[in-house]
Amino acid sequence: MGYHFVDLHDRTMDQTLANRLQAMPKAEIHIHLMGAIAAEIVYQMAQKNRVRLPATSLEEWKSFYKFRDLAHFVEIYAIASQCIQTPEDYILIVEQFLKHQSEHNIQYSEVHFGTLLHLNKFSDDELIEALTIGARTGETQYGSRVKFIASISRHQPHLQSRALDCALRGQEKGAIVGLGLAGVETGYPPEDFTETFAEAKRQGLRVVAHAGETEGASSVWGALKNLHAERIGHGIRCLEDASLVEELRILQIPLEVSPQSNYCLGVVPRSQPHPIRQMIDAGLYCTLNSDDPPMFNTHLTNEYQTLATQGFSWEELWQLNLNTLEATFLSETEKATYRTQWQEFLQQSSAALT
Ligand code: ADE
Ligand code: ZN
Repeated sequence: MGYHFVDLHDRTMDQTLANRLQAMPKAEIHIHLMGAIAAEIVYQMAQKNRVRLPATSLEEWKSFYKFRDLAHFVEIYAIASQCIQTPEDYILIVEQFLKHQSEHNIQYSEVHFGTLLHLNKFSDDELIEALTIGARTGETQYGSRVKFIASISRHQPHLQSRALDCALRGQEKGAIVGLGLAGVETGYPPEDFTETFAEAKRQGLRVVAHAGETEGASSVWGALKNLHAERIGHGIRCLEDASLVEELRILQIPLEVSPQSNYCLGVVPRSQPHPIRQMIDAGLYCTLNSDDPPMFNTHLTNEYQTLATQGFSWEELWQLNLNTLEATFLSETEKATYRTQWQEFLQQSSAALT
């Protein structure tokens, strides 16, 4: 089944809808802390910490944000991460993160952070304390909440138990809710992480995995069958296997979809509408996310607006937003509180339109 061709640049979005999407209260469940730092801050941190970037100006550094593929992206991402050196830097980037989220009325986020990126810099306890302080002060200042998902970089499989230790320590301290699997998908299948994920589950961590982003259906099957992933990062290539689509539909496994990320990493050609339409039509449970927003020149509002330009209605976009809230690892009581507030927004913004 081929895609029908839509010239994305031909579609415009009505300004009222654009504004409504900006104002709507949101949740986000697939975004990376290091990938959410503005290029300006990466550049400032590099100067402050005397880290050599492969660029002599901010403009030149920004020009590195043109990615050939996921492996190239992971390379640039690692360079940016190296600029963050001290616990104080982490506090600042978490605060800045929450400032940015609040500007888009993103009231709650679950954020991946690469557990191994601080290893030669400071201890797990110092990291967790910095994340906790940043989350607390950021929430007080900007009113947006965050919980963290400790990610294993799948291209460093030998460090997976080290990542789990850090995740468990963060869980004890109440900052970390889950274990994730990120990084280069090709050559590092989910099966290689089975034991670590089983242990994480035994210890009460929630588990998620990127799969079906650059690899096909077998990667998603591995994340389901071997890792028992509760949510799948991207998952878009599940469409290549009808029996997998059926499994995901029956189980209603949330898929964390990020259209601009897929366009920027060449996973979906820019000339085509995003396959999320086919995923929804197939009855799959989709959520919408921004992944690494400044690196992909996006933000969560823009992800909703992108789908609006591809023909999604307000009702469909609002449903994606509700799906995202329901797929969080918040308690039922916490979800209900957000649901009630969001319902008020819906009523007020509908009344304003009539
Ligand atoms: N780390 C940050 N962004 C990622 C992505 N889109 N896929 C895999 N790992 C990542
Ligand atoms: Zn991601």
